[in-house]
Amino acid sequence: MHHFQYKGDELYCEDVPVRLIAEKIGTPCYIYSHATLSHHFMVFDSAFKDAEHLTCYSVKANSNIAILKLLGSMGAGMDIVSGGELYRARKAAIAPERIVYSGVGKTTEEIDFALRERILMFNIESTQELDQINRRAEAMNTRAPISLRVNPDIDPNTHPYISTGMKKNKFGISIDAALKAYEKAKSLKNIEILGLDCHIGSQLTDVSPFIDALKRLRSLIERLRQTGVHIRYLDLGGGLGIVYDQEAPPQPHEYAREILRELENIDCTLIFEPGRVIVGNAGVLVTKVLYTKRTQLKNFVIADGAMNDLVRPSLYGSYHYIQPVVKSQKETEIVDVVGPICESGDFLARDRGLPMPAPGDYLAVMSAGAYGFSMSSNYNSRPRAPEVLVRGEEYLVIRQRESWEDLVRPETIPDFLSG
Ligand code: LLP
Repeated sequence: MHHFQYKGDELYCEDVPVRLIAEKIGTPCYIYSHATLSHHFMVFDSAFKDAEHLTCYSVKANSNIAILKLLGSMGAGMDIVSGGELYRARKAAIAPERIVYSGVGKTTEEIDFALRERILMFNIESTQELDQINRRAEAMNTRAPISLRVNPDIDPNTHPYISTGMKKNKFGISIDAALKAYEKAKSLKNIEILGLDCHIGSQLTDVSPFIDALKRLRSLIERLRQTGVHIRYLDLGGGLGIVYDQEAPPQPHEYAREILRELENIDCTLIFEPGRVIVGNAGVLVTKVLYTKRTQLKNFVIADGAMNDLVRPSLYGSYHYIQPVVKSQKETEIVDVVGPICESGDFLARDRGLPMPAPGDYLAVMSAGAYGFSMSSNYNSRPRAPEVLVRGEEYLVIRQRESWEDLVRPETIPDFLSG
């Protein structure tokens, strides 16, 4: 369910015509729907209302501080993976005791920042990291609250780049080594064991890999209890998929039902780290057609949005539905929608049926709210796109378009070159 619908021939975001925003703000631009964001958070969070839980929105999916603030105001905690994400979460006034911190490569500076902020817990991904966090906590005369992120060796049946819970992946501590790692954690003076964590992958469209992982975690929790380690928090990560094309992922209430059934009498506070399912379908990338070009083999629609704005099609071969912002009567043709970047890998869609657009027409690239802007870059020295939040009849720019000046601001020409 989302609030990007046609009224007559015009695509609207809530009560604002998308064309109007594109004309006022320019393109490419990201547009997010407030109603969709809050609805998705509410649906996910309330699916677990019968269990003690904390929903920690995964900041990496869309890190704009206005979005963090909106979700925070609805009771979301945050799942972070860097000092920068912690900084953003704190800027959005998210309470530190609602923040969990994952990631295989936390630096000393990041660890110290998180210890100073007194976050809920670190999800530890290796025994060396455990030692380092213990050392930093000792130096700061405190105790670091931790979970161990366990790699349960489950195939999530998703794109290999976003599978994270298999033996060959860099994430977590192998489930076979977990008991020993907890023993070690127990022996460290400045470590406080709070929980157990796992995240097996992203864009899962089936609940069974989650359940398989849970079964393994549950038996680990029971074994840990026998050794005197009490797990108070069980963090199941994120990963629930969304509809981009023909997928049929479980609805949050179905996902919750299966998980809660598996966790009966577990006596832990549950933590979830959803990203995509909250923001994915709450955002679109709007781009303007610059030119069209017919070759012997292809019809190219050359748009002003590119792989630097939305890298998912180029990086993962991901499908994003594309529709005209104003419906046209033009005949449908098979086209490649490409951007201006100097790489053949720069495309938003390939071999796609679309009413043949003309220069000046706007296209909406759907389901771009997650891993869209947050993965964007300045490649080809393209300023990053603005982000707009729509709420009913109003819209607000929540991040301005970068300027050419912004691009070079951090750079310096050394004296020996400026003569
Ligand atoms: N927790 C951890 C520890 C994660 O690594 C991730 C995502 C999440 C939670 C949130 O997962 P979600 O609910 O969004 O599936 N750039 C890729 C997705 C990368 C996901 C990385 N980790 C994409 O565009 O598909």
